[in-house]
Amino acid sequence: MVKNLSVSLLLGCSLFAADYSSIIEHPDASEIIKKDLLAPAKVYTMPAGCITTDAAAIARGDYIFHNLNGEKAKADAPAGLSKKNSNGSTKQFGNCVACHNIEGAKGAGNIGPDLHGYKQNFIDSGARTTQFVYQKIADARIDNPDTHMTINLTTKLFNEREICDIASYIVSPK
Ligand code: HEC
Repeated sequence: MVKNLSVSLLLGCSLFAADYSSIIEHPDASEIIKKDLLAPAKVYTMPAGCITTDAAAIARGDYIFHNLNGEKAKADAPAGLSKKNSNGSTKQFGNCVACHNIEGAKGAGNIGPDLHGYKQNFIDSGARTTQFVYQKIADARIDNPDTHMTINLTTKLFNEREICDIASYIVSPK
């Protein structure tokens, strides 16, 4: 009896199964994915006057490096930097400390290289140029196409000046 009932239910369902193909959307997935894809890797030339010893610029770079966004940042934003975008939304910062250790870092990650003593170890030693540092922060894929680092200038997460502030902070004596 139970068996007969389930067989007739099954039959009933298939008899009434409608053809939904005309109302089911078939969006072009490749077009949707394109919107989320990163723009291709881009080479940048560090602008003149980019690296500076200006304390205010270094303070902004420091703040961007150590904070995730304006909502989570505890200290006030330094002069010339805001916790909000012009449309009132929360500004994203670099959160570089999630992957890099550096002087004064709290809870630093180790996915990226330790940036302690960067000036002495990397710049003064001639191992790296400031142009390299600028490019790395602007678009890390030029140095390493498979990088896990965030892409900052090509994605417009930061503007040129902000990349310079961050680079100035990294290469500043600490
Ligand atoms: C998700 C992890 C991650 C985040 C976030 C990240 N980085 Fe990196 N970074 C890396 C890795 C990994 C490398 C090693 C090279 C590579 O794979 O691209 C690197 C390399 C670097 C280098 C080059 C060091 C050298 O001389 O070899 C600098 C400078 C740097 N990162 C700065 C930053 C700054 C500034 C930020 C924040 C705006 C940041 N990184 C955010 C992972 C990260």
